Amino acid sequence: MRLCHQNTQITKLVNDWHAQGKAVAFVPTMGGLHQGHLSLIDIAKQKADKVVVSIFVNPTQFSKNEDLDSYPRTLNADLAVLSANVDGVFIPDVKQIYPNGINKHIDVGTIGQILCGKTRPHFFNGVAQVVEILFGIVHPDVAVFGQKDYQQLLLIKKMVKNLSLDICIESGKTIREKSGLAVSTRNQYLSESETKIAANLYKTLVYIKREILQNKKINGLKQWAEFDLKQHFKLDYLEILDANTLRQITSNTHQIIILSAVLLGSVRLIDNIILKKG
Ligand code: PAF
Repeated sequence: MRLCHQNTQITKLVNDWHAQGKAVAFVPTMGGLHQGHLSLIDIAKQKADKVVVSIFVNPTQFSKNEDLDSYPRTLNADLAVLSANVDGVFIPDVKQIYPNGINKHIDVGTIGQILCGKTRPHFFNGVAQVVEILFGIVHPDVAVFGQKDYQQLLLIKKMVKNLSLDICIESGKTIREKSGLAVSTRNQYLSESETKIAANLYKTLVYIKREILQNKKINGLKQWAEFDLKQHFKLDYLEILDANTLRQITSNTHQIIILSAVLLGSVRLIDNIILKKG
């Protein structure tokens, strides 16, 4: 495994692989690696000859009152996990990624302004900005993102299309604890009792899915689910939408997504389930 701190090192490494005819898959992360990241790496291995992972806690996707300073930084443990699993690791500092400061604005369109984008208006701009920069440095053929961050996944697919980047975006399904709780780096902020409560988010999504499959009315279900989630959490949103557009379901909808974001204490949890429209 090659460790690169400088942009030029990782660019050269990938260029050399390309010159040898190798395809390169990329998994961008902010570290704090868990089973979810490992499942993305498994997909990356299936899609390409070489796999690069980046570890960069991107300041532009945190607002001033969020957890940038306390975000879990577990570099040694991350590298131990990656050493047997990937070919290159890119660990830039802020100056490598933002040599001219960090005020570049990317228009993320409506998809970045709804749902999580309403509560976290800075977030998708920051994600789009860093992912575009990372793609420009790493030049992957394939990049893999998790379906747990579904809105992020759609936004990145849209960005790649808008910028006509020659990168195939692959996605990996959400990895869950036995309780159903989606694994996330921020789960380590939860106490033992909160971890148990957190599993109710997925339970509610599963219940709604079952009811939709039994042709129950979406509006009634949405109201019930909002009430149910409020018993355990501070609700940000619960929506049942077209999975391709993140707009209201229409007669053209093929797949439905049930998505929610909630707060448990100060910890924000997001999750979603996708189902075929009957
Ligand atoms: O999903 C994440 O971990 C981050 O948003 C990403 C894509 C690595 C960008 O910083």
